[in-house]
Amino acid sequence: MVQLGIDIGGSATKGALVDTSTGRLASERIRFQTEPLVKPKEVLVAIQEIQRILDYQGRIGIGYPGIIKNGSILTAANMNKKWIGENLAKKVEELTCQKAVVLNDADAAGLAEMRFGFEEARKYHTVLFLTIGTGIGSAIFVNGKLMPNTELGHLQIRGRDAEHRASDLVRKKEKLSWRKWAARFNEVLQTYTFLFNPDLIIIGGGISYRFDHFKEYLNTNTRVVPAKLQNLAGMIGAAMAAHEADLEVLG
Ligand code: BGC
Repeated sequence: MVQLGIDIGGSATKGALVDTSTGRLASERIRFQTEPLVKPKEVLVAIQEIQRILDYQGRIGIGYPGIIKNGSILTAANMNKKWIGENLAKKVEELTCQKAVVLNDADAAGLAEMRFGFEEARKYHTVLFLTIGTGIGSAIFVNGKLMPNTELGHLQIRGRDAEHRASDLVRKKEKLSWRKWAARFNEVLQTYTFLFNPDLIIIGGGISYRFDHFKEYLNTNTRVVPAKLQNLAGMIGAAMAAHEADLEVLG
């Protein structure tokens, strides 16, 4: 089954057709660069363009970096505040005349990694998936089942959001060495492991390409592995969510 998966980010909206039985892309990846703090209107135009270019008819899956309830956006930590309160699923449906499903971007990427990336992950009871990029996104799986909207990047560590201390953006902005950044990240992981006791931690997002640079500094007792699907995970997971939603309708 081929489904359109869209990944909305702070600097780009990306989309591709995905074969949801293999997790492979079934089309080119279309990327619309956007200004930081882009407004919903411009992203909606990009989504419509992606659907038109790929000549797609069917349910559209969309990952967005914030809390999502019933298609509506509740938060916009690294996004324009105009996103808050938008029913993105409804807006996309009105614009494209196709059904849409919206979920958190880290939840989408986590779903894809669990199924098509680090496949061994399904053998673990509790898995914590993290995306480390502009922010820190999280997805928790218990026996393979997702607990959505966990937002662990906003957990307070030393009086600040974890993502304001240890995201990849902070590492670059503050020009932290891998050792210094990993010391901060270790504190983040310690807090997460204390709260959730995961059996496996998967690190995704921009930093997963550089896992070799920092793995030696990590000091958690839990097994930590890099994600495999890297920056495609969000689109693949969004397409998977669209497929799941279709299956639910079929009963
Ligand atoms: C947002 C999350 C998102 C993460 C990664 C955070 O700032 O609150 O919803 O998953 O960034 O994009």
